[in-house]
Amino acid sequence: MSPPLWIAAWALLLHGCAAGRAPQAPSTRNDIRDCSADPPYLPPTATNTTARLAVLRGILRTHGIHAYIVPSTDAHMSEYISKRDARLGWLTGFTGSAGTAVVTWDKATLWTDSRYWTQAERELDCNWELQRTTSIESIATWILEVVPAEGNVSLDPFLFSIDTWNSYSRALHGSSQTLLPLETNLVDQAWGDQRPPPSSSEIYSLPAEFTGSSWQEKVAGIRQQMEQHVRRPTAVLLSGLEETAWLFNLRGDDIPYNPVFYSYTLLTNTTISLFVEESRLSAEARQSLRSGCPGPLCVELKEYGQVSAHLRHYAQGNVTVWLGTEYTTYGLYAIIPQEKLLEESYSPVMMSKAVKNTHEQEMLRATHVRDAVAVIQFLLWLEKTVPQGQVDEFSGAQRIDAFRWAQEHSRGPSFQSISASGLNAALAHYSPSNGSSRTLSAREMYLFDTGGQYLDGTTDVTRTVHWGEPTPLQKEAYTRVLMGNIDLARLIFPSNTAGRTVESFARRALWDVGLNYGHGTGHGIGNFLSVHEWPVGFQYNNVPLEAGMFTSIEPGYYRDGEFGIRIEDIALVVEAQTEHQSGEKPFLTFEVVSLVPYDRNLIDLGLLSPEQIRYLNSYYERIRAHVGPELRRQRLEEEYAWLQESTEPFPVSSAGTAAPGTLALASLLSVLLSELGA
Ligand SMILES: *[C@@H]1O[C@H](CO)[C@@H](O)[C@H](O)[C@H]1NC(C)=O
Ligand SMILES: *[C@@H]1O[C@H](CO)[C@@H](O)[C@H](O)[C@H]1NC(C)=O
Ligand SMILES: *[C@@H]1O[C@H](CO)[C@@H](O)[C@H](O)[C@H]1NC(C)=O
Ligand SMILES: *[C@@H]1O[C@H](CO)[C@@H](O)[C@H](O)[C@H]1NC(C)=O
Ligand SMILES: *[C@@H]1O[C@H](CO)[C@@H](O)[C@H](O)[C@H]1NC(C)=O
Repeated sequence: MSPPLWIAAWALLLHGCAAGRAPQAPSTRNDIRDCSADPPYLPPTATNTTARLAVLRGILRTHGIHAYIVPSTDAHMSEYISKRDARLGWLTGFTGSAGTAVVTWDKATLWTDSRYWTQAERELDCNWELQRTTSIESIATWILEVVPAEGNVSLDPFLFSIDTWNSYSRALHGSSQTLLPLETNLVDQAWGDQRPPPSSSEIYSLPAEFTGSSWQEKVAGIRQQMEQHVRRPTAVLLSGLEETAWLFNLRGDDIPYNPVFYSYTLLTNTTISLFVEESRLSAEARQSLRSGCPGPLCVELKEYGQVSAHLRHYAQGNVTVWLGTEYTTYGLYAIIPQEKLLEESYSPVMMSKAVKNTHEQEMLRATHVRDAVAVIQFLLWLEKTVPQGQVDEFSGAQRIDAFRWAQEHSRGPSFQSISASGLNAALAHYSPSNGSSRTLSAREMYLFDTGGQYLDGTTDVTRTVHWGEPTPLQKEAYTRVLMGNIDLARLIFPSNTAGRTVESFARRALWDVGLNYGHGTGHGIGNFLSVHEWPVGFQYNNVPLEAGMFTSIEPGYYRDGEFGIRIEDIALVVEAQTEHQSGEKPFLTFEVVSLVPYDRNLIDLGLLSPEQIRYLNSYYERIRAHVGPELRRQRLEEEYAWLQESTEPFPVSSAGTAAPGTLALASLLSVLLSELGA
């Protein structure tokens, strides 16, 4: 699944693409608001926010605040948030996943990106102005215009990343307005007892068979990194929910799709403090955490809300606190004096988690075999039912979820399924809703981008299919997307190469004929954790690729108003077998662990080189070898026959000759690498 907009680089690309679409014409539709009508017209999907705005404005006046900024994030920079953290949604009525609201004494404005413009017009009432951009400069300019001189602009510093805070601070610098961080959240005050209560569900230990190593080993590994770092940090502060979940082998369900729980961790050279609602820990979890008490491997349980006070106290000592700026809010960061900070983009826990050990790799491989069974069941089911016209995007998404749920160790979907037919697939983030969902047809292409959570791993796979006669353009575009997927997957490259250096291999076959796609090419993935796991991937801010990392490879092609194609697999970075050796470390390549055949109906074999066909055939052999026996074990004989048919080897002789571009691109790569000093 292509990551959402909070990931900055991806955002730019995707936003650039989406913003390129034609502006929406003035509408006479009755499903969106019309604030220029008299009286204003509101569709039933809009929320009346008059009363809640009045309450918030009362609170602003009491605090001497003239503008209050409300983000869509939570205190852990989570990709998905709980209902309790949906402050933007409650205040505005707008339920999209990304946006910023600013409320003044007499104005209220929402900023969001092009994915959500129509949705915002359906959900906002006429108290709100919609700004069709997300740049902080634009928000700051608006604030400077409407807030009186000497006015106070305020926000909750525990909901803003360090970067975002800095951007607002820079933008307001030199004006007479003051940017005032306020520790009590004013929206929460206004929300009052209507705000959903904190989650109370159990936080549990992962059974040992599903962990890569014990939490004690992980803690020892992080402490070793602290000792070996030149700055000799005395503590590591963890704010990302998946960091604490991974470190202690604990899971919960506070957030949709990600099996994590609200927490912070302060791991020092001699102590471990876990800030969490203690009563929610299962008996085994508590026992496991307390097993080393007293001593350096004793986990002290502290209240979640105590983290600031505790950190403030700790930071008074002769200490150095190591943290990852990408997941730490400005509120926590500002507590630590600058000279006691060791800032890196990602914490050592995030970096360690990114490289999976042998057992974690085995678990992710096994997960993908069972996941492939579910996807193959779905593909066969579609083949049989779509021609009868009884499947729509929504019921399709429900069906694949159901197939996954039936697999061993399943814990539900890993993100909201993308299930898009025909022109809907051209919207990279389209998700169907009940009641407004397109019927699947043998005359259209269908794209589904779905994934599952299992106790041993997380999956994410995209296939695009056509059950009838694709147009020549659809076939060519699909084949070129597939060529890009193959070219990147079979690439051999030096150890420590940055993902962005090799990313263009996934685009080359499209570039050859003047086609492209407007989103990133991949993201890391977890073991029963996040479906988008940083810092692995192919963007400028991703870390160099190392053996043991998992990433998606997902080129695509989108034709506005017509169709969309994406082919996504998860791949493990492995050492390559090369004839020669240069440098100390072996070269690397990918092993694709998603094991689902592509649509033969959409492949134009004449475009593929013999190398690409040989690669495809060997991939299909692996699918047969791994998924075939599992289908039989589950007594899915019809699916087994379908798999055999779908993975028939392709004839190599019918292929064209290798494209001349290969050499040119390889030499371009070597230039890039030598510039990087690799
Ligand atoms: C919205 O709610 C307010 C009071 O909370 C009410 O006075 C107003 O008429 C409502 N507006 C609409 C359009 O229903
Ligand atoms: C801005 O906030 C400060 C601190 O809360 C307060 O003392 C001051 O009066 C406020 N300014 C205005 C113009 O209300
Ligand atoms: C702080 O700790 C460092 C390293 O342990 C030590 O070299 C330094 O002398 C200490 N400073 C003070 C003021 O205690
Ligand atoms: C741990 O760090 C503290 C500073 O907080 C330092 O005084 C102490 O000597 C360190 N202990 C060990 C065992 O390294
Ligand atoms: C979808 O909508 C139909 C008709 O309104 C309803 O019967 C059905 O329960 C809904 N399904 C889900 C999963 O919400």
